[in-house]
Amino acid sequence: MFMRNSWYVAAWANEVEGDVLLSRKILGDQVVLFRQQNGIAAALIDRCSHRFAPLSMGRREGDCIRCMYHGLVFAADGKCVEEPGRPRPSPQTSIRSYPLVERYKQLWIWMGDVALADPALIPDCHWQDDPAWRSIPAYIHYNADYRLIMDNQLDFSHLSFVHEGTLGGSKRIAETKPKVEVIDGNLRLTRWYLNEPEIAPYLKGVVNLQGPIDRWHIYDWSIAGNVLNMDSGSAPAGTGAPQGHRVAEALQFHATQCTTPEDETHSHFFWTYAHNFNLEDGAFTRALADRIQIGFDEDRRTIEAQQKVVNMSGNDKMAYIYVDAALTQGRRLLEARIAAEQSAACGSA
Ligand code: FES
Ligand SMILES: [Fe+2]
Repeated sequence: MFMRNSWYVAAWANEVEGDVLLSRKILGDQVVLFRQQNGIAAALIDRCSHRFAPLSMGRREGDCIRCMYHGLVFAADGKCVEEPGRPRPSPQTSIRSYPLVERYKQLWIWMGDVALADPALIPDCHWQDDPAWRSIPAYIHYNADYRLIMDNQLDFSHLSFVHEGTLGGSKRIAETKPKVEVIDGNLRLTRWYLNEPEIAPYLKGVVNLQGPIDRWHIYDWSIAGNVLNMDSGSAPAGTGAPQGHRVAEALQFHATQCTTPEDETHSHFFWTYAHNFNLEDGAFTRALADRIQIGFDEDRRTIEAQQKVVNMSGNDKMAYIYVDAALTQGRRLLEARIAAEQSAACGSA
């Protein structure tokens, strides 16, 4: 079950350059992404209307894609503009196009009702292209339901165990109850771990901060588009970070993670991990991304293994424990949005 009336990240902008015809399945629809001559990216269903050959096996010609089976040509709006040997194309040869917006180094696609596709609804992810921050665009493919990834993001108690030697490093994370707020139908989680003896393992050797430290994870989770935006960091203990005072030695990061369902049991995961210090040190940006990648591989292995067990579990119910408050709320908010979307669609039909 997907929310269709929402912007989702379809690709990093730099995946679609020149003559590239990028085929990607999104919410169960196979889509082809390409650029017109003016550089504006577009999305079409990856299926020629004639004999259903994939357009991604075709050729970009100017602002259009030519199907390289029998030569129909399609414009960015899905209109068939040429049929070889005919003065104008046969009826019913046009295909579906999808609204697409390039923002924050990403291509955001709208898979639902076109009339509702307002670009103002795209969640703010400006840290990815803000000159005050540095990050490297990255992607992970998941053999898992996007909702298992959402559960993982809304429950950081797993950092103490899945990421014991990388992103976590402290049992306090699992023992800390986050503050959970619903803001405009989305979630904000706030977690503080005060007076920790040392920085997280993934930072050792790449930063100079010594313990004791005050550490935090404060993040917004957008139900539409499955977008996490997180302020995290560490400051020398007792220097006022929880009160909003961040001293010069404090390390601040901003994580953006966008999960797009591929289908019911596969997902696309687009992420960055931005820093606002050492801005001219490309090796630092790279080292940080590589270390986060190790942590995210730990998540992927866990969640993909979990998906296999879920697949064999029939209607058996999972047990609810103390740390599940946020993920339960997240699931409820998501289900309510999907139900509202489906009843609105029934009403208009
Ligand atoms: S399948 Fe595309 S033109 Fe025939
Ligand atoms: Fe994780």
